[in-house]
Amino acid sequence: MEECKNSNELVVTSNKSRKENSLLVTHRSSLILGIDTSCDDTSASVVVDGERILSNVVSSQSDIHKKYGGIVPELASRRHVEMIWLVVDEALNNAGITLDDIDAIAVCYGPGLIGSLLVGCGFAKAVGYAKKIPIVAVNHLEGHMFSVFLENKLSFPFLSLIVSGGHTSLYIVNGFRQYVELGRTRDDAAGEAYDKVAKLLGLGYPGGPVIDKLAREGNPKAFDFPRAYVPESFDFSFSGLKTAVRNAVSSQSPVASSQSYTLLCDIAASFQAAVVDVLVRKVEWAIVRKGIKKIALSGGVSANSELRRRVKEMAEEREVELFLPSIPFCTDNAAMIAAAGYCHYKAGNIAGIDLNPKAYLPL
Ligand code: KG4
Ligand code: ZN
Repeated sequence: MEECKNSNELVVTSNKSRKENSLLVTHRSSLILGIDTSCDDTSASVVVDGERILSNVVSSQSDIHKKYGGIVPELASRRHVEMIWLVVDEALNNAGITLDDIDAIAVCYGPGLIGSLLVGCGFAKAVGYAKKIPIVAVNHLEGHMFSVFLENKLSFPFLSLIVSGGHTSLYIVNGFRQYVELGRTRDDAAGEAYDKVAKLLGLGYPGGPVIDKLAREGNPKAFDFPRAYVPESFDFSFSGLKTAVRNAVSSQSPVASSQSYTLLCDIAASFQAAVVDVLVRKVEWAIVRKGIKKIALSGGVSANSELRRRVKEMAEEREVELFLPSIPFCTDNAAMIAAAGYCHYKAGNIAGIDLNPKAYLPL
């Protein structure tokens, strides 16, 4: 796969060879157009049989939201309206196909920002109705969970840790629609903690990538931030950690700017160490308690370099198979919606024209 930015500043991940694409299209059984507008990225993707990506296009809105230190929902939905056709068109072009080749449109209908979800769902329904293409509705979390099938062949059951800006949940995935939730965050999601800490450190939005970068130069033991191990539970909690960082920042006396960069890196590294310790320990505990030998990570925080390093180390020690998405498929993307959508399509779960998005949608 090849990743590049095109003239419209869209991040395009596509199959290098058009010849290979046309072979895949000819020998396929289902060609799914995935759409995700659940939060601040507009994404469309074309996927063959739920596992072979022909194209994946993402239009990021981080430049719009950066100055506010978080997502402004109204601005997000307006931008989705502007970008949706362009992004879908680019995904179809890059796959070397047209809407007439599509067997089904898989659209994310929740959970997420309601105004943002409305744009994707409204678009999918309009195109589906006009072109007589069936629509399948996909839960965003199920999309993250199924992103593992885009780059790997694996069988059920497996453990799935979804760590994103909105969610931190651990599941046993026994099959399609057979998900057992072991635990979830009781307050902030891991990505949300990154974003809030970045905001209080004046680092802008999204916080994860910048803290990840600064942490590489910091001392993870400089601050002893709390690790919330909710006893006898697979649940997570990150809001106390965020408060501890706030207290540590406000108790610092002014330092020269040469020292302040070191301090910033130390806070980032110590905060990150606390998040990663908890995530890795809980996954390890689940492996031991449930005896499952496969673990898949997904969601924006799974792009974190320290989490990836530590979870690899733990997986080797415990002799379990680890599946980490490549970076473009950690954060929100429509290929994962197409992957889960393919299973719904095969199962005959076709949505009606009355499909409505839902801001709150349990898996
Ligand atoms: O999966 P995602 O794109 O959207 C949601 O479904 O929420 O995740 C976005 C989250 C943001 O909170 C962002 O700060 C975090 O993922 N993130 C990271 C990294 N890259 C993105 N967190 C830690 N380290 C990273 N490298
Ligand atoms: Zn997501």
